Amino acid sequence: MKNSKILITGGAGFIGSTLADALISHNEIVVVDDLSMGNVENLPKSAKVHFFNRSIADSLFMEKLLTSWNFDYIFLLAAVASVADTIERPYETHIINQDANISILEMIRKNKLQPKSVLFASSAAVYGDDLSLPKKENSRIEPLSPYAIDKFATERFVINYGKLYNIPTVASRFFNVYGPKQNPNSPYSGVLSLISEAAKKNRKFKIFGDGKQTRDFVYVNDVVNALILLSTNKKALHDVYNVATSTQTELIQVIKIFEKISERKIQIEYGPERIGDIKYSYASIDKLKKLGYKPKYKIEDGLCKYWQNII
Ligand code: NAD
Ligand code: UD1
Repeated sequence: MKNSKILITGGAGFIGSTLADALISHNEIVVVDDLSMGNVENLPKSAKVHFFNRSIADSLFMEKLLTSWNFDYIFLLAAVASVADTIERPYETHIINQDANISILEMIRKNKLQPKSVLFASSAAVYGDDLSLPKKENSRIEPLSPYAIDKFATERFVINYGKLYNIPTVASRFFNVYGPKQNPNSPYSGVLSLISEAAKKNRKFKIFGDGKQTRDFVYVNDVVNALILLSTNKKALHDVYNVATSTQTELIQVIKIFEKISERKIQIEYGPERIGDIKYSYASIDKLKKLGYKPKYKIEDGLCKYWQNII
């Protein structure tokens, strides 16, 4: 991916800005982010980054942007990324997580734009509580939350817009991504950002449920490599891929590893299980591996790098 014009929606957020870091040296990058969770400070400092503090739901703005820039690569990462937040605000978040993305696809179709790739970030949340593990791309889909429903529906729109209208689309289902720049300042933030913040500031951390829920934690640099691979490999087109490390770790276990790495004791309290929460999450990544993906970070390595970055 060189000398390209790249659009990253949600690019001031955690994953989007890490992707921008990886791509900036050889490309021009446009970021659209309403800063509801993102931060401009996350973006690489470069004249080749063009930042727009706008919502992807602002269709007049988005259409002008798409038609005037004629992007080579489009990464659709903007979303209300918290499952719990979408349970609080189901309709408001649906407008962003689904409608705005379909509207972007429609703009590409109507204006006959010809990007080399349009990638949509879907989620492991689409599998819900299916107990057959590890979760494969063709496992049962059981979305439990507005977030998961919107991710699944949009993923289908993205793939089938691609097939029907000859647009090079692809979708990725991220499992639980962690790393520097994940915003810890919302009660809905990703669990590892909240754990690291508790360790850093010597605050209590509340476990929802018994702490035995598992997640397939994946370090953000591995996710960025997967994103680049999926958007540049033609074999990936019109399909969906799990992005994870293919290891499941209990929440309580991840806290223990974090305590060891940070050499700090995290004070834990327990609260009731979150509604819509998934108990066990663990991915098969065989499909992505066939395209050449290999995760580099085990949870211990990723947490170590994360801690070194934020302390
Ligand atoms: P994030 O919250 O850091 O990034 C999302 C960005 O979108 C934020 O910067 C936010 O300000 C922006 N945004 C929200 N609403 C917007 C709107 N209406 N218009 C423009 N920008 C808007 O989250 P992230 O972890 O970087 O997630 C990136 C994508 O990956 C999201 O689509 C998320 O659903 C998906 N995903 C994340 C994970 C994870 O574990 N972090 C897992 C699965 C899927
Ligand atoms: C996360 C992502 C979501 C993604 C999904 C894919 C965020 C905010 N959420 O959802 O975008 O699609 O992975 O798998 O990035 N927990 C606590 N205490 C807390 C916070 C969380 O015990 O203070 C628990 C939760 O109840 C849950 C687990 O930790 O069991 C993970 O929670 P969270 O980080 O919010 O992630 P997911 O809901 O898995």
